[in-house]
Amino acid sequence: MRTYTNVKDLGDLNAAVKEALEIKKNRFAYKHLGENKTLLMVFFNSSLRTRLSTQKAGMNLGMNTMVLDINQGAWKLETERGVIMDGDKSEHILEAIPVMGSYCDIIGVRAFAQFENKEDDYQEKILNQFIQYSGKPVFSMEAATGHPLQAFADLITIEEYKKTARPKVVLTWAPHPKALPQAVPNSFADFMNEADVDFVITHPEGYDLDPKFVRGAKVEYNQDKALEDADFVYAKNWAAYTNPNYGKILSKDMSWTVTAQKMALTNNAYFMHCLPVRRNMIVSDDVIESPQSIVIPEAANREISAQTVIKRMLETL
Ligand code: CP
Repeated sequence: MRTYTNVKDLGDLNAAVKEALEIKKNRFAYKHLGENKTLLMVFFNSSLRTRLSTQKAGMNLGMNTMVLDINQGAWKLETERGVIMDGDKSEHILEAIPVMGSYCDIIGVRAFAQFENKEDDYQEKILNQFIQYSGKPVFSMEAATGHPLQAFADLITIEEYKKTARPKVVLTWAPHPKALPQAVPNSFADFMNEADVDFVITHPEGYDLDPKFVRGAKVEYNQDKALEDADFVYAKNWAAYTNPNYGKILSKDMSWTVTAQKMALTNNAYFMHCLPVRRNMIVSDDVIESPQSIVIPEAANREISAQTVIKRMLETL
């Protein structure tokens, strides 16, 4: 595997989940693969889970790991060609990327949407420059339009907790004080559309996601109706995708918060969220603290999804 940016990069999804669950049983079985190999993790944005779980995954595989926080101690990077660099940006990304590539064997990149220009965000300019110019296998640690390590961990978690062969999985928008990218819901939809689940997306009018990710999923604008008989409720906020409102907050309607009353509509569903989560905006205290909340094992599976992807990359070096 040379790149990991979406569900298709995993090939046979059932086989990938099976491989992940095997790795989980003995996460040090492939320690030899990473001997004398270096993982570089480059962060343009903050992280708790991705930083720790991906580093742990690399260490499980015997790799040396390095972390670079672009905004803390590195030179400020110019990302556009043709710019006269007379401002505060000291280095161009077109030099920085191959230099980073020269120090490592595999690169993970986190670079969120800027919300300045939809086309720039949806072209994944920064991630694709790493793929094009680093000369090394590159995986997304959440880019402008996707968070495939999260979605893979989500699928692994659903596989572990499901009680029926084809569970009903509902992705619900929920309110948030800040404008958040569509990366997590995009990738969740990308994966659920390929998995053996009954997938429903619910959100207020105006929050439709990119059709490239929604594909054949059912979209239901009535949250209560969508939640009926759900086996898994996956809550997430995102800002508007469609122009002219791209990147804007259109609603903070607290009636969309996932509460015990909402969960009562479901088939005793499990509650999921990628974290970090704003309590009593996205989800009430009692729901996230309930036995049906699986947000902690979901986060723990980030180590497993990352390890499966890095293992596959090591195998092709
Ligand atoms: N879910 C997730 O990616 O968490 P972090 O932003 O803390 O890495």
